[in-house]
Parts: sequence; structure tokens; C-alpha cells
Amino acid sequence: METLSPALIAAFEAVLSKVPLEDRARLHAFKDAAAAAAAASAPHWDFDQPGHRAEEALAEAFGPALTDDHRRALAALWALEMPARIPAADLPDAVLELYPEWIQRLADFLTAAADPYDRDFWAKDVRISLVLSVPGARTQMIDLSSPMGPGQVLRHAREGWGWSVIPAYAAAQAWKPWLEVHTESRELSDFNEAGWDRAWATAAEICKRRPEMAGMLGSSWFYDPPLEQISPRLAYLRLNLLKHGAFMVHQGPGEIHTQRAATSSPTRAALIEAGDYTARSWIVAFPRAALIKWADGRKAAMQSDTARAA
Ligand SMILES: CC(C)(COP(=O)(O)OP(=O)(O)OC[C@H]1O[C@@H](n2cnc3c(N)ncnc32)[C@H](O)[C@@H]1OP(=O)(O)O)[C@@H](O)C(=O)NCCC(=O)NCCS
Repeated sequence: METLSPALIAAFEAVLSKVPLEDRARLHAFKDAAAAAAAASAPHWDFDQPGHRAEEALAEAFGPALTDDHRRALAALWALEMPARIPAADLPDAVLELYPEWIQRLADFLTAAADPYDRDFWAKDVRISLVLSVPGARTQMIDLSSPMGPGQVLRHAREGWGWSVIPAYAAAQAWKPWLEVHTESRELSDFNEAGWDRAWATAAEICKRRPEMAGMLGSSWFYDPPLEQISPRLAYLRLNLLKHGAFMVHQGPGEIHTQRAATSSPTRAALIEAGDYTARSWIVAFPRAALIKWADGRKAAMQSDTARAA
């Protein structure tokens, strides 16, 4: 696979050349150390950590002169190194085939130079360009290492959400690192059942290459069980996984979950406003053995559909 076409290389170089020559030299000087610090922080539960490490390196180098052009230039510099980082990560074809689109989108976003650089997009672009997170589908990206602490599992049980989570945690060997899925809000075309199936199936392929992974988890307000009545079109997000061996851990309400749940749905916004619904975040964890079994079944069904249609 050609990771970067000449046109993509030219696009990233053009982003880089928006900062003065001496600033480019400084970026080159600290990019490797900043990449190492970002990678070291990536297994933390906080998705934003690598972006913070990159931000710290930029602030140290440029101080008050730091601009979004510098941030974009650093992301472009790391994107230009993806042809080395992607093979080193030993990723399955299910991921590799998504890269051309994801890298093109990154190039387009950096080229468009929308100021200010949204914090969430910055965190995502740092992770993608450093291959700390990888494409899972058109909309979903997958972090390559994320923890599930025993604390929240015990709290789930203690607070009355059910004790079965404890044997589920043990059976999954959930103290091992997990993959974690995130939604890329700049490209929502795959936020549907087929897109999510693709993301979970991609995770299964990554797990096959990485026996140390416990499986993949997601954490969101959109796994909240009452949504089955309030927003039935989102119920597949949770039910399809539970049917095939996933388990859930309660995380609880929070300002960010309320905000996100209310963003696009007048129905949820009205219920929240009236005090009739409190958005809660949940983890859905799909342990590796069950995930791979489901994904292999899906693949076999897709192959027999194709054979029948031929
Ligand atoms: C996550 C998200 C992309 C899901 O969007 P979605 O698939 O359109 O689903 P929603 O339930 O949010 O739908 C919002 C509105 O779009 C319309 N809609 C969505 N799907 C529809 C369909 N199939 N047919 C008709 N209308 C539809 C409805 O008007 C719905 O509002 P309603 O609940 O009042 O009926 C969206 O909620 C979002 O962008 N949230 C903020 C960011 C976020 O939470 N990201 C995830 C972080 S964990």
C-alpha cells in the first residue's frame, strides 16, 4: 500500500510551509521527543493525553508566539512520517484499507486551516498521525491501548447496578489493555448499524494480531439503557453487542454527557430540560473471544451472501 501519494505529501508539506523556516527547524528538533511523550501517555484513560503532551512541547518551543499554524504544522510533520509508523504497528487489512480516506481527510482539514483548532479535533489528529489510534470504519476510530480500572467495576456493583459485572470482568481478564472506540464527528456518514458493525469487526481483526488485548470497549451516553424507549433508533448500539457477549459498566451522569445527548435530538433535549431524563455514560466492553467469534460469524455470513448473489 502506498501510504502517502505525491499529492498528499505535497498537501502536508504545504501545511508545514505556512510556518517560517526557523519555526520549521524547531518543530523538526522536538518532534521525536514530543512523539515519544505522546506515545507514553496514550494508554491513559484520558483520550486527550497525547494532545496535551504535543501542546506542551509546542508551548515550550514557541511560548506566546504559538499559533494554530504551528499545531497544524506539527500534525502535518507527523502525518509525513505515517509511512514508517503504520507498518511498525502491524495492522490488519481491515485498518489499512481505511487509511487512504482518513489521511485524505486529515490533509483536507489541515489545509482548510479552520481557526481556532478545535480541542477535540486536535486530540484526534495527534493520535491518528502518531498511529496511537487507527481507523475502525469511516466514522469510528480505535485507540490501540486503553485501561478498564477495577475501581469503576466495583463502584458499579456497590451502587446497585448488578454484581454480574465482577465475574464478567474476571472472565475477560479485563485488567489487560483494551482497544477503545471513538466517534469522529467530522465524518458521521458511518454512524449507523453497518458502520458500527464494521468498526467492531475491525477491532476483532486487530485483536487477532494482538493477543495481549482484552477486547474493545466504548464509553458513551448513547449506551444508556433508557434510550431504548427515548431514542429507539440508537438501541442497536448497545443491544447488538450484549446479544453476543459484551457487558456494561455504569459510569454515571456528567455535564459533557448531558451536552452531547442533547446536541442533535430535540426529543432528548426536551426531556433533559424538563428533568425527565438524566443522560448517563456507560462502558460497553466486548471481550476478545466473544468479539472474534461474532466477527468471524459476520464475515462467514457476508461471504455466503456474496456467493449466493454471484
Ligand atoms: C452521536 C450522534 C452522531 C448520533 O446522531 P444520530 O444518529 O442522528 O442520532 P440522534 O438520536 O442523535 O438523532 C438526532 C435527530 O436526528 C433525527 N434523526 C436521526 N436519525 C433519524 C432517522 N433514521 N430518521 C429520521 N430522523 C432521524 C431526529 O430528528 C433526531 O431527533 P429526535 O431524537 O428528537 O427524533 C449525535 O447524537 C451527535 O452528534 N451527538 C453529539 C456528539 C456525540 O455525542 N458524540 C459521541 C461522543 S461519545
